Amino acid sequence: MRSALPALFFLPFLAAAASGDSVCAACHSQQTSHFRATPMAQALETIELCDILKNHPDLQFQEGPYHSQIKREGDRSILTVTRGTETFTVPILWALGQGKAGQTYVFQYEGAMYESRVSFYNGPAALDLTIGDIGTKPQTIVEAAGRRLEPPDAANCLGCHSNGGVSGGMLHVESVVPGVGCQSCHGQVEKHANAVRAGNVAAAKLPHLAGLGPEDMAELCGRCHRTWAQIALTGMRGPNTVRFQPYRLTNSKCYDVEDRRIRCTACHDPHGALATNLSSYDATCKSCHSTALHTKVCRVAKANCVECHMPKVDLPGAHAQFTDHQIRIAKKGEPYPN
Ligand code: HEC
Ligand code: HEC
Ligand code: HEC
Ligand code: HEC
Ligand code: HEC
Ligand code: HEC
Ligand code: HEC
Repeated sequence: MRSALPALFFLPFLAAAASGDSVCAACHSQQTSHFRATPMAQALETIELCDILKNHPDLQFQEGPYHSQIKREGDRSILTVTRGTETFTVPILWALGQGKAGQTYVFQYEGAMYESRVSFYNGPAALDLTIGDIGTKPQTIVEAAGRRLEPPDAANCLGCHSNGGVSGGMLHVESVVPGVGCQSCHGQVEKHANAVRAGNVAAAKLPHLAGLGPEDMAELCGRCHRTWAQIALTGMRGPNTVRFQPYRLTNSKCYDVEDRRIRCTACHDPHGALATNLSSYDATCKSCHSTALHTKVCRVAKANCVECHMPKVDLPGAHAQFTDHQIRIAKKGEPYPN
């Protein structure tokens, strides 16, 4: 069922300097230590700490006449593109993503930010074209190195993959704190921490996210994972939509804007690792599908529900699969349902 409700809940990307999350650990040790290990917390890395580039010190890729190389030099990684006698060389500033659906690099050149044209993919453990660049042709050596980001695009990119660094819609390179952080979801956490310490109960209040319903939760996660409306507006169709979980889930018959049993956190711990043991999702399915509740139950199996009803789908160009959140009776060989 699709919601007809407008988006009710918005946290703007929070401005200004985000401190590290270590101050939270004193009082919320579990959330802090679990969250640090997640891909979300590592959605952006400085090159010095980037394991993929440390472990692959000499990556190469050929595209027509252009040859790209990412080479480790001490704590840095340098992107070099050559064509005949022409050469373009630039140090990489940040690595975005952990490589499942790609690790893409960002660099600065002549005052602008660029997204690398090549990305590293864990599947083949090699460079390939960045998904968004498939089907395009570079006209210059700089275009073969990367796509120039307009200032708002650079700010959005960093807004989803890091913590702080964006204010007034502009990116401030020096105040980026790598990775998604507590404030990305919880808002003004520093104010909260200071107020708790000062004993100011009223000022310590943060939005109570556990109280959100499915729609507001999908808006919160959808600020980065994209909302139903954002995808619907683009008119995007086919398996490219599988990476937008809020969109797919909203299209599912199981979705109900008012039923908390289908919110993102009914299946996911926002601070923890993604559960890959499929039976761990059964309880959520059974919270709605059970004979005791006189609702529809499965005649085929009693466990591992998501294995059949949330199939994995190849994301074109990513060398990786995503989980279709449009819960359904999936038939072998049927086309991807839009
Ligand atoms: C000195 C202890 C202390 C520190 C430091 C602290 N908190 Fe809290 N936090 C609390 C207490 C006590 C509560 C419960 C009372 C409340 O909700 O106001 C709380 C509640 C919360 C909640 C739950 C709000 C809700 O209602 O769902 C969140 C989220 C949170 N803190 C995040 C953070 C983050 C992020 C940091 C680090 C920037 C942080 N806290 C630092 C003590 C602390
Ligand atoms: C500030 C942006 C942002 C918000 C808000 C956000 N995410 Fe994410 N999330 C990301 C990014 C970026 C990644 C990809 C990290 C990577 O692979 O490098 C990600 C990855 C994930 C993953 C995959 C982890 C894995 O092991 O592959 C899950 C699950 C997830 N997010 C759940 C959620 C849920 C649930 C919410 C809402 C409560 C949420 N996210 C809100 C940015 C965000
Ligand atoms: C609206 C928020 C948003 C923006 C803007 C955004 N991303 Fe992401 N990105 C995500 C989320 C959420 C994920 C995790 C889900 C997925 O892979 O689609 C992700 C995943 C990725 C991945 C795959 C990570 C992995 O471990 O598989 C890469 C690489 C990536 N983004 C790079 C970028 C770059 C580079 C930019 C900017 C030029 C950018 N993204 C802009 C939200 C965003
Ligand atoms: C991806 C979004 C996201 C990030 C990042 C995030 N949280 Fe949360 N947090 C949530 C959501 C959503 C809830 C409500 C959980 C629910 O629905 O039961 C929550 C709940 C909490 C609570 C209330 C108790 C609980 O566990 O339900 C605390 C405390 C908390 N978060 C602390 C933190 C701290 C500290 C960090 C940083 C280390 C952090 N969170 C990062 C989304 C996030
Ligand atoms: C009914 C359970 C359920 C709900 C509700 C749910 N998910 Fe998932 N999600 C899953 C399962 C199952 C996986 C795949 C786990 C695995 O095998 O790795 C998954 C995987 C993911 C991933 C990793 C990338 C992928 O697609 O495989 C992200 C990101 C994610 N979910 C985000 C969300 C967000 C955001 C919401 C809320 C809009 C949400 N999920 C709601 C069950 C659920
Ligand atoms: C919030 C309650 C809720 C949750 C949680 C839920 N469902 Fe459903 N589901 C429904 C409702 C309501 C329908 C529509 C029933 C009808 O058609 O009468 C439905 C329909 C279905 C259908 C039939 C779809 C079709 O195309 O006819 C399947 C299969 C299904 N659910 C499987 C699951 C699985 C597997 C999970 C866990 C991953 C799950 N559901 C979680 C409420 C839920
Ligand atoms: C081995 C694959 C498989 C597993 C595992 C599985 N299902 Fe199904 N399920 C199916 C198939 C196939 C159908 C369609 C059967 C039919 O047409 O009668 C179905 C039908 C359904 C329906 C629709 C029933 C109706 O009367 O229309 C629901 C709801 C459902 N499953 C929920 C679940 C839940 C909940 C679980 C986990 C407890 C689960 N399924 C596990 C394959 C599976």
